[in-house]
Amino acid sequence: MKENLEIIYNRFNEDIKLVTDECSFNLVKVKFMGKNGLVNEALKLIKTISPSEKKTYGEEVNKLKTSIETRLENVKNDLERLEIENMITGAKIIDLTTPLGENIGSLHPITITQKKLVDIFENMGFYVEDGNEIESEYNNFEAVNIPKNHPARDMQDTFYLENNQVLKTHTSASQNRIMKKFGAPLKVIFPGRCFRNEELDAGHENTFFQLEGLMIDKNISIANLIYFMKTMLSKIFEKDIEVRLRPGFFPFVEPGFELDCKCIYCDGDGCSVCKQSGWIELCPCGMIHKSVLEMGGINSSEYRGFAFGLGLSRLAMMTFNIDDIRTLNSGKIAKLKQAKIK
Ligand code: PHE
Repeated sequence: MKENLEIIYNRFNEDIKLVTDECSFNLVKVKFMGKNGLVNEALKLIKTISPSEKKTYGEEVNKLKTSIETRLENVKNDLERLEIENMITGAKIIDLTTPLGENIGSLHPITITQKKLVDIFENMGFYVEDGNEIESEYNNFEAVNIPKNHPARDMQDTFYLENNQVLKTHTSASQNRIMKKFGAPLKVIFPGRCFRNEELDAGHENTFFQLEGLMIDKNISIANLIYFMKTMLSKIFEKDIEVRLRPGFFPFVEPGFELDCKCIYCDGDGCSVCKQSGWIELCPCGMIHKSVLEMGGINSSEYRGFAFGLGLSRLAMMTFNIDDIRTLNSGKIAKLKQAKIK
């Protein structure tokens, strides 16, 4: 019997040496001191022992129990102390005063440009909406006056999905939903990612960003359109920007324009960026077509409005001096990080 107790004690000593954390501690504790643990099993044996041996055996078991309990208590205290020490030394590793070094992340040029534009438009009272990237054919085309089989569909080589939806080819795809959501009057901008099946080159990507805007009210005219475009461009380039309108065709605006800005690189003298013309084509726009307003649930005899579709990727390239649009989606960190505000 006594030998039994010795075996238990030796086993305990072996096991307790291997304890490194709370989990292994609990396993040992249960194995020896649990309800069905070895110490309790040894206690239960008292019943089977002859009365003459009972007293000494009882004393021996209790001695074993106390020494195991004391040892467990000490190990538990050690573990707790260790945990606190680890917390303290761990905190030293995260030294908030350590310089971060060269490798600091940065926002993407598109994100920076979009944030700036959102800020500018919010200050001019525009609300900012999100657009879907997957759109119904109706929203992308029909609702902006591009019916099925209309040649204008060819202007945008489209990715069709198997369920007849499309990857939106332009932010104008959100016009209808936004008009129905807000009604008139409204002042909203909606930046978004667009997709077209383009031949890729320095100026064309299959995935690019636009920022579209709508302003609808009772007396909106082309003068309002010019004012907002000029103000926005002057704020983004931080200097007074001259703009001009040329006729441009988009089925959902009438009249439709291409808005050019005086070349910011040569001030209109002619350079390689503006191809010696002195002007940079920047923003298609126009007065919203009556039937587009009607399809959006807006009474076109009462309300008028303008729409513009700013090439966000294009603008980011201009402000960050990036000469190949493919860089923007490339993950070429070195190039994107080098992008400097002009
Ligand atoms: N959605 C047109 C395009 O992507 C741009 C545009 C927007 C033109 C709003 C006029 C008004 O080509």
